[in-house]
Amino acid sequence: MPSLPMTIPRSLEALAPDLPAGVLDETFRAASERLDRYIGALIREMASALDLASGEQPDPDRLVAERAWSDGGRLAVRWLVETLELYGLTEPTSGGWRLVPGPATAPAAELRAEAERLVPATAPAYEVLALCAAALPAVLRGELRGQDALFGPTTLGLWFDYFSNTNPHYALNNIIAGVAVARAAGTGARVLEVGGGGGSAAEAALAALTQAGKPPSGYVFTELQPAFLRRGTRAVQRVLPEGCEVRSLRFDINFDPAPQGLDGARFDVVFGVNTLHLAHDLTATLVNLRALLAPGGALIVGELLRPTPTAPVHLELPFTLLEEYGHVPLSEGIRERPGFMSASGWMRALDAAGFSEIAVIPAQFERCASIYPGFYCGAVSARA
Ligand SMILES: C[S@@+](CC[C@H](N)C(=O)[O-])C[C@H]1O[C@@H](n2cnc3c(N)ncnc32)[C@H](O)[C@@H]1O
Repeated sequence: MPSLPMTIPRSLEALAPDLPAGVLDETFRAASERLDRYIGALIREMASALDLASGEQPDPDRLVAERAWSDGGRLAVRWLVETLELYGLTEPTSGGWRLVPGPATAPAAELRAEAERLVPATAPAYEVLALCAAALPAVLRGELRGQDALFGPTTLGLWFDYFSNTNPHYALNNIIAGVAVARAAGTGARVLEVGGGGGSAAEAALAALTQAGKPPSGYVFTELQPAFLRRGTRAVQRVLPEGCEVRSLRFDINFDPAPQGLDGARFDVVFGVNTLHLAHDLTATLVNLRALLAPGGALIVGELLRPTPTAPVHLELPFTLLEEYGHVPLSEGIRERPGFMSASGWMRALDAAGFSEIAVIPAQFERCASIYPGFYCGAVSARA
């Protein structure tokens, strides 16, 4: 696998002709390269702050045990060690690994300031990463829970800005899921969205459906957290096509839909963006969603996809600090590590849940990820 940061090959665009034209253009690639360089500088600074910069270090689990660090930071430490490796900043030793100097780089704060000056809309991606990096030492000392560092009254606005179509580092997943929803739907479809958050995926899906000349007849927007549900519902109402009925519901993907207000409901499309990897019992959740589909209906799983079942994701740090992200049962061939899954893992999971016609968008996702290991955006579609 090539190391990060890298010049993202132009050929990436040609490998994804099934995405809307221009989404992987020069502007997007340049913004991604800047974020990649920032993360490269950030991980070196994090390694120094955690006193990992000199001498041999053991594997992440032993490191956490030897330093008596809190278990709440275990996944973040694994992320740090693997991301240093992905950036070519480690070398193996007989007992573990050691940091190597790597090419000179500007300080992370300088790279961030320059990136935000060039594209101000990318600021939430930098702010979230900086917030997590600053919180990690206290999380490891057991003084702070990742959850509390990330989500509180002062950071809610940041998350609305992060999970937004104005943030170029988040919007692509929504665009791809929107394309998949519009492709799977007929005219006048009944659509259910799960984990709709602040409504950014809904905006993208409704835009794609409208653009495809397939306005839906009904849209059920669901989300677990009340603050997101309120915000997301307002977002949906703002962009609702004429004649489309909207309903909003608090819904937990880990429980039976019937007592949650979906008893007897049938949909033509069910979708979620960056939510279904949080399912505790993935097969049970997918089976429940399949039962909500009318015959021939489609499930669209818009997700950040790992390049391979166990590959690191250099953008993953914020999620590694959340309990619900890390505490999920693993399953060979499907979910081989907590959190985001690979395209092949999703395909197997959907197959195990009884779906058919399972396909990935972009179809050449694995080739895209093999030429640029920071390429994670995709959607998996399947029929009931
Ligand atoms: C990464 S965000 C994605 C938000 C939204 N899809 C978007 O793209 O703007 C994941 C969302 O899943 C929600 N979520 C977390 N656990 C959930 C669960 N068990 N059931 C339903 N939603 C859940 C979170 O509250 C959050 O809004």
